[in-house]
Amino acid sequence: MTRTSWLQNKHIILGVTGGIACYKACELTRELGRRGALVQIVMTEAATAFVSPLTFQALTNRDIRISVLDSNAEAGMGHIELARWADLILVAPCTTNTLAQLASGQASDLLTTLWTASECEKAIAPAMNQLMWEYVQTQENLAHLIDLGVAVIGPESGIQACGDIGSGRMTEPIEIVNNLESQLARGPLAHKKVVITAGPTHEPIDPVRYLANRSSGKMGFALANAASRLGGSVTLISGPVHLETPAGVARIGVETAQEMLTAVEKSLDDTDIFIGAAAVCDIRPAKPSMNKLKKSKNSLSAIELTENADVIKAVSNNRQRPTLVIGFAAETDSVLENAKEKLFSKSLDAVIANCVADGDIFGQDNTQVTFIQNDMENPLPPGTKAEVAMEIMALISELLSKRVLM
Ligand code: CTP
Repeated sequence: MTRTSWLQNKHIILGVTGGIACYKACELTRELGRRGALVQIVMTEAATAFVSPLTFQALTNRDIRISVLDSNAEAGMGHIELARWADLILVAPCTTNTLAQLASGQASDLLTTLWTASECEKAIAPAMNQLMWEYVQTQENLAHLIDLGVAVIGPESGIQACGDIGSGRMTEPIEIVNNLESQLARGPLAHKKVVITAGPTHEPIDPVRYLANRSSGKMGFALANAASRLGGSVTLISGPVHLETPAGVARIGVETAQEMLTAVEKSLDDTDIFIGAAAVCDIRPAKPSMNKLKKSKNSLSAIELTENADVIKAVSNNRQRPTLVIGFAAETDSVLENAKEKLFSKSLDAVIANCVADGDIFGQDNTQVTFIQNDMENPLPPGTKAEVAMEIMALISELLSKRVLM
């Protein structure tokens, strides 16, 4: 079984505060990047006296955020938006002063403001003189942060920059990242890679027209959100829809079935679970016109069509076949029969059947589905797409754990 980093695709705010261990934050930034995380550095003023923001900018390719009163930066991504963007805020090094501010809920600079404004996972790697670390108030602040669910990594014992010997050295960057992985990678899908297709595809006829279907993409997005909440590392390959990307999910936008197939094949490496929730157009105009077709010339009624590849079938037959390949079957009649036919003809491990006889079902927030495996049919209780997606992902996780044991 492959081991996927919890940090893959995660949005991380790395808060750098003013201490000599700042220099280690450069290596920490690189290590987070190596594991696939997107890192936004937020420095305190004091930290800029130890390492130049330019260093971090070069390491992350992103502007460094320092002040909450920076009108240019705020115009790009405001601090509340940045707080929502984060899947994790890691403060490393975390000084005595910042630790005290975080424990008392102060919002005196950008970093502490983001901390109080975000509901994401939080972690600190303290770094300070051994007497400051042992100071009774520091230990009380630390206990309070642990009570609040903050992951605390380190500090380590040894010779300090000031010459003292004792506890207070910041944990080495690679150890911080390993520690984060084991503390935060929770849930049945931890270390599992999940690829999900969603939405419709658009097949161009000419520059202004296309063939499409009524899929809203809501189910695929709900599944991506559920898989991410269960600890999975999720890639969502979506056709054109107007939906927000779920937190912690990497989204690849495509338009046509051919683009979807290419994106899926590129993402298959090390995938544990593939879910085809997209309503892929089965056909496309064979030769999309460069110019707008004119109805007066009868060119619209003579559009030649050709068949698109079956994306999920290609995944099932791929030599890098994921452990589980799960499909959907949206049917208007003989729902269970048709769904089972797809289960076998596409060599799926399970299929999720839903009735779309009433066209109004598209774009709705509620749904009812049956989860089918071999000869087992499991009708799930009706609910919102978010609730049903969570039920589906729980069943898929269970199925995966049985397969892994086999
Ligand atoms: N699917 C796919 N690529 C296609 C068509 C379908 O990956 N070109 C996947 C869908 O994502 C879904 C499953 O196959 O997981 C069934 O899709 P559906 O549209 O119900 O079935 P079709 O194979 O297109 O059959 P039909 O339209 O005849 O019902």
